[in-house]
Formats: sequence, C-alpha cells, structure tokens
Amino acid sequence: MTYKELPVEQRHALLNQLRGDYIACQTRGLKLDMSRGKPCKEQLDISMDLLNAGMIANNACDSTGFDTRNYGVPDGIPECRALFAELLEISAENVLVFGNSSLNIMYDLISQYWIHGTGAGTKPWSLKRAVKVLCPVPGYDRHFAILEHFGIEMVPVPTNSEGPDLHVLAELVADPAVKGMFCVPKYSNPTGITFSDETVCAIAALTPAATDFRVIWDNAYCVHDVREGGEKLLNIFAEAAKHGHEEYFIEVTSTSKITFPGAGVSVLAASKANVAAIKARLAVQTIGHDKLNQLRHVRYFKNAAGILAHMQKHRAILEPKFDAVLASLERNLGGLGIAEWTNPRGGYFISLDVPERCAKRVGELCKEAGVVLTPSGATYPKGIDPKDRNIRIAPTLPPIHELETAAELLCLCVKIAALERLEG
Ligand SMILES: Cc1ncc(COP(=O)(O)O)c(C=O)c1O
Repeated sequence: MTYKELPVEQRHALLNQLRGDYIACQTRGLKLDMSRGKPCKEQLDISMDLLNAGMIANNACDSTGFDTRNYGVPDGIPECRALFAELLEISAENVLVFGNSSLNIMYDLISQYWIHGTGAGTKPWSLKRAVKVLCPVPGYDRHFAILEHFGIEMVPVPTNSEGPDLHVLAELVADPAVKGMFCVPKYSNPTGITFSDETVCAIAALTPAATDFRVIWDNAYCVHDVREGGEKLLNIFAEAAKHGHEEYFIEVTSTSKITFPGAGVSVLAASKANVAAIKARLAVQTIGHDKLNQLRHVRYFKNAAGILAHMQKHRAILEPKFDAVLASLERNLGGLGIAEWTNPRGGYFISLDVPERCAKRVGELCKEAGVVLTPSGATYPKGIDPKDRNIRIAPTLPPIHELETAAELLCLCVKIAALERLEG
C-alpha cells in the first residue's frame, strides 16, 4: 500500500514509529558522507603503477624526440593526443591535451567566449544585450557555478530518460540570446542516463539562431561503466558533420576518474576551426601543460584498450556499491509511492526524487543524524530546485558497510519527510 492510501491514523502511528527509529539512529554518532563524486581509496590504489618512476626516468622524450621535461607543446604531446583520439573516435588533429582538470578547460572556454567571442569575426558574449545558456536539469553544480560566475542566464531544460527534452531545446535555440548548452551526455551527473541515439542526432541537427552557439559536451564519464557492457553514446562530431554543425560542439573529458582526480590529464576535442581559435588563446595562456604526466599516461595505458581494461578494475569496486544503495532504496522505499530513483549503467551517481518540498527536509534530517548528502538544490541552477525534489547520491567514496548504513538512514529520512508532508 502506498503512503497516500494508508488510513490517517495508521500514517500517524507509522510516523511516530519512524521518528523513534530516527532518534535511535542519532544516538549512534554516525559520520558518513555521500555528498561528492570522489573515487574511494581502493580505486586510487589501482592506478599507483602510473607513478612508477622507471616509466619515464630512463627516457622522457616523446615520439618526436621532444624532451617532455622541458617547456613547450601547449597542445599536448602527439602520442597522448593520439591515445584520446582513439578513445573518443575522432582524428588526433581535433584533439588537444591539457592539464589536470577538464573543469578548468570549461571555465577557460566560457571566459574566452565572454571576453573575446567564439572565434574570428565574432563579438564577445559580454557585449551582447543578453546571454543565455541551456542547462539540462538535474545537472552538474560546477557547470552552473561557472555560468553564474560570469553572470550568464541559465535556462533549465527538463530531461527524461533519453536526455534533454528535444521539443523544448528546439524552441529555446530559436532565441538568438541562447548561446549554448552545458551537458553530460553519457552517464550524466546526477541521473546517470546516457543520451539516446535519437537525442544525439537531434542535438547535432539543432539550428540555433545564434551563429556563435556552443555546446560543451562534457563527456567526463565516457568510459565509466558500472554494469558489464555499459552503454554506447553516438559520436557527436560524426552526427554534427552530417549537418555541417561541427563548430557548435566542444567535447571535454579527463582522466580524473580513470587515474587520479586533479592529477590526471584533461582533453578537448573540437572542429579544426575551434581547435585553431583555442590554440591561439592557449599560446598566450601557457608555455605547456604537464607533459611528463601526459607521457606517463601513454606509457601506462598504451592505447584505448588499455584504458578500457583499467576501467574494468574500477567497475569491480563500484558495482557492489551501486548494488548496495539500489537494494536499500528498493527494500525501503519500493511501492510506497514516495520516491523514484535512477538505476544507472555507469557514472558516479544515483538520482533520487522524493515528494515535492521534501528534499531539503531529507537533507536536514540526514545531516542531523550524521549523514552528509550533496546539498539539496545543488543539481539545479543557482542551487534552487523549484520543486525541492531531487537528491544526488554519490555511492563511490564510502566503504560498503558505511554506504549500507547511510542508505538505510537516507531511506528512513525520506519516509519521515514524506509522511510529514502528508500530515500537512
Ligand atoms: C560531469 C563532470 N564534469 C567534470 C568534472 C570534473 O572534472 P575534472 O576533474 O577533469 O575537472 C566532474 C567531476 O565530478 C563531473 O562530474
């Protein structure tokens, strides 16, 4: 029986009982964290061979004979560009390898568009009367933070299990003030969904009114399967080429959740013209990124198959963690009519929707009992979830026994918040 169908007295008694359980939990002095998508220690351990000094100490020259210990090569050493070109299924001349963070690349892109425009003959976005960027929701809080930092208006776009709503997208891009979109097309943060073929094709075919339109195609989770076989994302550049729309797309990714977060390499893929515009800016910005790290990554992985094999080790650690949370959600909340959640085949998150005006309350209850969640609202622009429904669960960091405890407590808090809401 769903909570709505329960007779009022039974609901009341249940709430009292659950509150008792909650007080008992509070006395346990829990200190658990399901807030951020960080790899756990075991995941970090599997990449330690990357630091094997012998790998480059004997020979630090790249395939052209360039000594990677020195300044230079701001676009990345050729074999590292080739490695990620193979992984992203794009030509190496369309790939640049940067430093330790793709978020940094995204910030710099928006900064470039804001100050100088998207390329030759374009006006800086800052000189336009209005600049809007589309934000599929729920989405990644740090994308929103970049846009907010530049004072760019964020336009939420509802998503379904196949990606952003295509009708809404088509209507919105007809507005010349709409200059672009941030999205996570594979194992999205936080829903874990992968854009369907139809969605990728439709996005590639969009005809925006703004000619300096840019989509930041943040493929952060391109190889991050949690389930065997994973999901396949269509190649955006191949689809865009069918319409002559390659200019609209900038793809980024990094090895933050392949090797070490904040100590890996980041990658940008784009059309020839976009690569040229970005390289012109880069020539002013840096004399070169950390090429020793680029070389280390190439020697460690060798090729795309090497990266995919490495990701299987992550999968072995993460799959039981996702299973533990999903089992707890099903066992505690299944059939009650108060929650829906995603069951992703990859990525770092599970997205939980609770009854309207309950997510904040769930966050408070969890916090007061020692479980930290991503702040409610974080998955929406400016931290405001209009329905106060969405909770992002990050199952990767805690050890499994802690995760099980945290998930049980989360479910208890969802039940209490839902019953409180029904009580009015
Ligand atoms: C969608 C997405 N993009 C980018 C990042 C950050 O990537 P990087 O470490 O390369 O800056 C994250 C980290 O959680 C993420 O979830």
